[in-house]
Amino acid sequence: MAEKALVTGAAGFIGSHLAEELLKTGFEVVGIDSLTDYYDVRLKQRNLDFLTPHDGFQFIAQSINDANLEAALEGVSYVFHQAAQAGVRASWGSRFEDYIDCNIRATQKLCEAVKNKPVKKFVYASSSSVYGDTDRLPMSEDGLVRPVSPYGVTKLDAENMCLLYRKSDGLPAVCLRYFTVYGPRQRPDMAIHRFLRGALLGSAVEVYGNGEQTRDFTYVSDIVAANILAMKYEGGETVFNIGGGSRVSVNYVLDLIGRYAKPDFDVRYKAGEKGDVRHTYADTTRARDELSFEPKMTLENGIELQAEWMKEILQLPLAD
Ligand code: NAD
Ligand code: UGA
Repeated sequence: MAEKALVTGAAGFIGSHLAEELLKTGFEVVGIDSLTDYYDVRLKQRNLDFLTPHDGFQFIAQSINDANLEAALEGVSYVFHQAAQAGVRASWGSRFEDYIDCNIRATQKLCEAVKNKPVKKFVYASSSSVYGDTDRLPMSEDGLVRPVSPYGVTKLDAENMCLLYRKSDGLPAVCLRYFTVYGPRQRPDMAIHRFLRGALLGSAVEVYGNGEQTRDFTYVSDIVAANILAMKYEGGETVFNIGGGSRVSVNYVLDLIGRYAKPDFDVRYKAGEKGDVRHTYADTTRARDELSFEPKMTLENGIELQAEWMKEILQLPLAD
């Protein structure tokens, strides 16, 4: 009989890729997603179109906070908790309420629901944003965690919640700290999406700061692979950096994207944004040693694959 996985945030960028891979490899998947309007919901419907043709897919269009999790967890062996209110720069001010609801409350409710179930692994989508600014690069899992955005604070809080339930109730939690993920279906608020959009349409894009900040960009299929490896992991480590090994500056990314640019592509430099980490760089020694994680996608090829997807979605009547 097929094994069953619960994927939260299944209509989102990363969750939909993960659910699709699980379905393709013979899993039954229960997807749960409240289809928040943080970005155009038609993109999420489109992500779901890759999942709904599979017989083994069941979708719950509800918030984790409202859903009947007892029913959703029936027969489930693996939980992949991808749902969150994402976005670093949007997390200030009154919008923080959403971050509390989706990142902290929802995680606590899910941990409570899973804790006494025969679930073999609970994989939590954590974030490089838990580190904040540090002079110690690359960032290692045992280094200081001091987020510089409200989003990062909630991601760290949820990570601690999962590890707390692991200690108190034996929840089989493993946390993967993803570093800036890109590829087809990437969220429209993220840099590569916005830069490709500008290049392909021949419109202006904004760079926050001087563009010399760096990111360890990670292609989405490498993130999916890390989740599958974590699902099978039987060792005792609980937190892993998952980085793509492509640490470059934002200006370097713009150079790569320049090859898709129409003549009116216009790069405008603005003041830096509050909450942005200056540099990220993953030390992936632990993931390599313990999970056999090896990122496979080069930034050049990954951007090309995202550009192909962007050309398709730019044909759609989507909101900005
Ligand atoms: P996304 O916004 O595309 O996907 C998240 C999905 O979760 C959305 O579809 C949203 O509707 C859903 N959701 C939010 N709150 C919910 C709730 N309470 N109940 C049910 N569904 C809810 O974002 P993404 O980029 O795919 O991110 C996925 C996960 O990875 C998040 O946990 C994010 O914090 C984490 N992460 C992402 C990146 C990145 O670069 N994209 C990097 C580090 C960590
Ligand atoms: C990304 C995700 O959005 C977060 O959800 C995630 O938790 C985080 O990665 C992570 O690694 O943990 P971020 O690194 O800010 O956050 O990713 P991008 O939105 O792609 O931004 C990358 C860089 O480009 C940032 O320095 C940002 O300021 C810059 N940027 C972004 C611009 O200069 N212009 C833009 O229009 C967008």
